[in-house]
Amino acid sequence: MSEINTAAPAAQNGEAKPAKKKISLSFIQPSGAITLGNYLGALKNWVAIQDSGEFNCLYAVADLHALTVRQDPKNLRQQIYQGLAVLLAAGIDPEKSIVFQQSHVHQHAELAWILNCYTMFGELSRMTQFKDKSAKYADNINAGLFTYPALMAADILLYQTDYVPVGQDQKQHLEIARDIANRFNGIYGKTFTEPEPYITKAGARIMSLAEPTKKMSKSDPNKNAIITIMDTDAEIIKKFKRAVTDSGSEVRMGEGKDGINNLINIYSAVTGKSVEEIEREFEGKGYGDFKMACGEVVADTVRPIREKVTDYMNNKDYIDEVCKKGAFMASRFAQRTLEKTYKKVGLVLPKAD
Ligand code: TRP
Repeated sequence: MSEINTAAPAAQNGEAKPAKKKISLSFIQPSGAITLGNYLGALKNWVAIQDSGEFNCLYAVADLHALTVRQDPKNLRQQIYQGLAVLLAAGIDPEKSIVFQQSHVHQHAELAWILNCYTMFGELSRMTQFKDKSAKYADNINAGLFTYPALMAADILLYQTDYVPVGQDQKQHLEIARDIANRFNGIYGKTFTEPEPYITKAGARIMSLAEPTKKMSKSDPNKNAIITIMDTDAEIIKKFKRAVTDSGSEVRMGEGKDGINNLINIYSAVTGKSVEEIEREFEGKGYGDFKMACGEVVADTVRPIREKVTDYMNNKDYIDEVCKKGAFMASRFAQRTLEKTYKKVGLVLPKAD
């Protein structure tokens, strides 16, 4: 795709115009190794949306959001590149989608300021992510952490986004983005598209290998509990061998059998096989065999991505080039929305020379 479809509304002469493609947008935080859950629940789906050809897609690394918790600058730089490398390695194609770094499109921070003025203290206070993070980083409850959703709303609304594919944990942030858009449109007339959530199911259900009632989370201090896409084959196999299961032995979904249910879900998400097919395939075999099989299919899925991430990380010039082109395309569109917003609220735009 050469640019976002910005076609003007159909001409007056009644000529048929091709339908305008919907816009799908999602960002990832540059916060270290991405888990199998993130891959299956988000990235894999982003690639499918891109490849469907039905959407104009934008994917970015939310580097400004990362600053809401204290970062080591050197480490952050590396994580930003890694986030971009992961997007590309997972199959996001810069020829089809716009790929960029949030901070390269200055309109994000600018629209976020405006939206901050239309976002209420009360609604921000209710955000569960804010509550969780302020408990976790009690010595750094900064204003950015609090207004994080206004920046995320800016990310979305700048591009008149129709769909935002995110995991369940971001649903509340998406709802507030819709509320902000709706409030603004109510005051000034239609300015922003109200985005629809596109909550993905599979990955939202990938649980910890050590405590299968808990979600697989990249911040889990127990590294045996999570699979990341940078894990080696041997590490993956070992982690699956150690995965916690109940005292049963049959490879069958069942009430309270959280460990085996999780492994069956993972196997299903990775291979595309249904639960019934899997149960049939492993009939008469024990947990040991199944864990081994899970390790192998996951290693086969992760390996090519890991290898590509490594290649991209050795070719940062390429990543820089992708981002430069992506930011150029994104900012042309973003600028239109920003100017429209500035005008609506009554700011006087600088006069052209
Ligand atoms: N908050 C999202 C997360 O932590 C990342 C994000 C930032 C995002 N801006 C976005 C996701 C816009 C979707 C759309 O995962």
